[in-house]
Amino acid sequence: MERRQAILAAAGLLGMPVSSRSAVAAPALPDPALAERDPDKYWARIRREQFVLPEARAFMNNGSLGVAPKPVLHAVADFLHRGAAMAMPDQEYPRWGYEDMDAHRGEMAAYLGCKRDQLAFTHNATEAMSVIANGIDLRSGDEVVMTNQEHGSGKNPWFLKRARVGITVREVPIPLPPSSQDDIADRLISAIGPSTRVLFFSAITTATGLIFPVRKICDAARAKGVITVVDGAHLNGQVAARIEDLGCDYYAGSPHKWMFAPAGCGILWGREEALEKLWPVIVTGGWDNPARKAARFMSVGTNNRAIFEGMLAGVRFANAIGPERIYARIHALAREARERAEKLPFVKLLTPADDRMYGSLVTFEMSGVDPERFSKLCAERKIWTLPGTARMRVSTHIHTRRSDIETLFRTIEDARKA
Ligand SMILES: Cc1ncc(COP(=O)(O)O)c(C=O)c1O
Repeated sequence: MERRQAILAAAGLLGMPVSSRSAVAAPALPDPALAERDPDKYWARIRREQFVLPEARAFMNNGSLGVAPKPVLHAVADFLHRGAAMAMPDQEYPRWGYEDMDAHRGEMAAYLGCKRDQLAFTHNATEAMSVIANGIDLRSGDEVVMTNQEHGSGKNPWFLKRARVGITVREVPIPLPPSSQDDIADRLISAIGPSTRVLFFSAITTATGLIFPVRKICDAARAKGVITVVDGAHLNGQVAARIEDLGCDYYAGSPHKWMFAPAGCGILWGREEALEKLWPVIVTGGWDNPARKAARFMSVGTNNRAIFEGMLAGVRFANAIGPERIYARIHALAREARERAEKLPFVKLLTPADDRMYGSLVTFEMSGVDPERFSKLCAERKIWTLPGTARMRVSTHIHTRRSDIETLFRTIEDARKA
């Protein structure tokens, strides 16, 4: 057997892609002037040259987990490869979980708009929120106020605390769609009562993609002596925002949704005084060294550092394209999806028209769409949104094409015709 055939046969047996490392090498980004001249052409090239997404796939579920572009895949594969080849420079060791990773945190902090020492890496927002809820000292009778729009990973840590410690949890209903950001802020701020110790809410809600006026809510809560915890799983990468400007005490994020990071990347942030009061949950040596600040929350044992190399490659990718350019594109696509939905008489939009109240998540309820037929058509046409028919959530990112939006709405109408 020829050598190449032998390699192909071995790769086939192992289920391995041949040349997996070279397959993820990406060419240089297109000239930004093209983005001005012919935006659709620019973004089509980004999709084709920078992602491995199949041509036929309409992927519109970044709200659950994003897709990593080639530079990220390459960084992950390359780091794993160099680790296995014992080819790391002197100071590098292929893991995290005992290290403070100052250089990595510094680069990430610059992108997120916060200080390195107040930022810890976690595996996802779920973990960060569990650490925060478990690390705040609360007693029986203390109250946590949250909205009725929270993700399970945000609310359940408080439900666990309720079962274990006897705190009370109150959920404030948010009308869908809300009339304004001020309305959302008023509802939350006025819900604060004499026993409220913590106010917890999402910067962008999970099922409905609503952008909350985080700063206004946090400032009002602080004035009442209430701790604020913000679930930012959908914020970074979707909407340009600096964590430090949000005014909250604690913050959790999931860069693997909108920031191009590989799955398994999360962040935990806290204001300096707030971090000093937070108990770590998973510990090894060093948890009681206050000089380590947020790094105390990263001592979680041996872990796969390749994903953080990938996460930083995602940050560089986003910076090279430009966060403002990314936001302008993905929000314009979301607005297009919203306007398309608005024209359908059997649709109730949950996303308000106000551009400040949504980024790249659009949600609506549909009546008269046969769920089985709809799922079948989506599978046939390779459309991937958050599964569900009564309520549809569409995510748009830089790989989303106008034709993907068109295909989705044609499919909705076809499913209804049955
Ligand atoms: C608002 C919100 N918070 C938290 C999470 C959990 O994120 P992760 O699975 O990355 O921990 C999600 C996931 O969809 C979410 O939408």
